[in-house]
Amino acid sequence: MKMIPSLIAAISAALLTLPAQAQFAKPEDAIHYRKASMNVLATHFFRLATMVNGRVPYDPKVAIANADIVMKMSKLPWPAFAPGTDQGDTRSRPSVWTQPAKFKDLSDKMVTQVAALDAAAKTGDLDKLKVAFRATAGTCQSCHDVFRSN
Ligand code: HEC
Repeated sequence: MKMIPSLIAAISAALLTLPAQAQFAKPEDAIHYRKASMNVLATHFFRLATMVNGRVPYDPKVAIANADIVMKMSKLPWPAFAPGTDQGDTRSRPSVWTQPAKFKDLSDKMVTQVAALDAAAKTGDLDKLKVAFRATAGTCQSCHDVFRSN
């Protein structure tokens, strides 16, 4: 009688500890996924850039919509940097996997900063958006400098 609940508990525990890689059928799927999510993120980030640098008129509603997408996308790429996905059509440096703590620290910083960007967009204050945008761009750059090849 007690076997079934303990079996369920064992399966649940196993699922929780599955490597992130198990979310993708093949390493190239993970590589494609992280690049695709970074690209969607960047597309909406650059739409914010056009307002921040005055190339298009500031529209708070458009800024809020784009910041919201950036925030949602910012959480997606990281599980796709799973072990065993370092080879193939990728510009990730091997250091992603040899310095995982540093990589995680920089991705956490980016996610936190993007939440601040989202909050800044919601204030409707262009000056606040500018400050948060530049800080966010700095978090992209600081990771790409170390972990992405050119
Ligand atoms: C913690 C590290 C890290 C942070 C933070 C980060 N990136 Fe990346 N990014 C990478 C790595 C590594 C790659 C290379 C992915 C690959 O080719 O496997 C990449 C690739 C990209 C690409 C190219 C995708 C492609 O199709 O080749 C774009 C665009 C991009 N990032 C935009 C951004 C933007 C915009 C931000 C900030 C809002 C950002 N990234 C923050 C690590 C990071």
